[in-house]
Amino acid sequence: MIGKLNHIAIAVPNLLEAAEKYKNTLGAQVGKPIDQPEHGVTVIFVELPNTKIELIFPFGDNSPIENFLDKNPAGGIHHVCFEVEDIYYAAEKLELEGSRILGNKEPKIGAHGKPVLFLHPKDFNGTLIELEEV
Ligand code: CO
Repeated sequence: MIGKLNHIAIAVPNLLEAAEKYKNTLGAQVGKPIDQPEHGVTVIFVELPNTKIELIFPFGDNSPIENFLDKNPAGGIHHVCFEVEDIYYAAEKLELEGSRILGNKEPKIGAHGKPVLFLHPKDFNGTLIELEEV
């Protein structure tokens, strides 16, 4: 059911410092910060030949990644995102098999303008999984 790895999101305590590390130390192609108020994050995309890294930093109050950074002050992998062809089909199948979908279970428009859902990390070996319809 899942297809390509779309991105890995890494929560970071300092966005520009992290971007600089990816650009200068690792030699990656790094974009500019993009505020995503509706998701409570500011993102910098790191483009790799086969996928993306998204460096994410809290935007505004009550950011969904604030807790994560409190627990992981140096930052850490926050979620992985897999592509699916049909997000409603994926959601139905996962629920039938007992996986929990976070939030109100309705796909939201994600960081790339496409519908996304998040799956409970306790159902997937402690990893928060995002599904994005492509
Ligand atoms: Co994501």
